[in-house]
Amino acid sequence: MTVLGLGDMGSALVRALLKAGYPTTVWNRTADKAKPLVAEGATHATTVAEAVAASRLVIACLFDYKSVTDVLDTAGDALTGRVLVNLTNGTPGQAREFAGRYDVDYLDGGIMAVPPMIGTPAAFVFYSGSRSAYDTNKQVLEAFGESLYVGTDAGFAALHDIGLLSGMYGMFAGGLHALALVTSAGVPATTFAPLLKRYITSMAGYVDGMAEQIDKQDYTINVTSNIAMQSAGYANLMLSAEEVGISPELLAPLAPLMARRVADGHGHEDIGGVVELLKKGKK
Ligand SMILES: NC(=O)c1ccc[n+]([C@@H]2O[C@H](COP(=O)([O-])OP(=O)(O)OC[C@H]3O[C@@H](n4cnc5c(N)ncnc54)[C@H](OP(=O)(O)O)[C@@H]3O)[C@@H](O)[C@H]2O)c1
Repeated sequence: MTVLGLGDMGSALVRALLKAGYPTTVWNRTADKAKPLVAEGATHATTVAEAVAASRLVIACLFDYKSVTDVLDTAGDALTGRVLVNLTNGTPGQAREFAGRYDVDYLDGGIMAVPPMIGTPAAFVFYSGSRSAYDTNKQVLEAFGESLYVGTDAGFAALHDIGLLSGMYGMFAGGLHALALVTSAGVPATTFAPLLKRYITSMAGYVDGMAEQIDKQDYTINVTSNIAMQSAGYANLMLSAEEVGISPELLAPLAPLMARRVADGHGHEDIGGVVELLKKGKK
């Protein structure tokens, strides 16, 4: 196997391959980062072409798509006919455009783990693009964690990756706002954190009900907390932020969306209907 990119994530991928017993060739722009991996059994290639030529399966884990093309454009013909798995974060559109750039069997991937999780059962990775590339290399790829193939559309791994990251950053935004609020009033973050985790975890279960409503475009199914009530309560989040003197900017955008659903006559329905406003695009 060849791994291009030995940052925090690329190095974790190499270690997982070595641990699983796969001979691995590595390349990195800053060559020094290869040293500890060579000490652990990897082979260092000094050029991208040499690294690519060393293996049928080439894995790229670099900073962004531009860095991947900058690197692979220097490989010349060495890439032709190989399997290229790009585990660099990007958008679905970038992945689709990139998929046709080189004469390779292409798989795009999205890693749903941080480096210390790689190679543990907690890690999972989305793949999309060439089904044959996935089927042939699934066993190797599972050295990183569970592999989930999400379709022949090369953009789908990034779509699923960005979807999950969107959920995560939404949660972080709420968590950061909550911690700013309570610590401004003198409650230590460490005292509040277990309560935050408990409540967020129990509320995560509501995603299933929302998903059913969204697929059916019916926001009247099993409503226990109507949006008119939630919209009125949400105004108190904004007022409380003002009272303690913190910026409401992380959570403020949801308030007008909820109010619009209520004003449009959906007050008896669930909050999931906000998706209908988002799907209309930017106002
Ligand atoms: N770390 C995570 O928690 C995590 C989780 C999921 C996904 N990912 C994704 O994995 C990818 C790598 O992340 P990372 O954590 O390994 O990042 P990182 O530690 O910052 O490493 C970045 C890598 O990209 C290389 N690079 C940057 N610009 C380059 C250029 N123009 N030409 C050649 N090489 C270039 C760096 O080379 P140098 O060493 O020479 O600077 C290094 O190998 C990213 O797309 C990231 O979104 C990371």
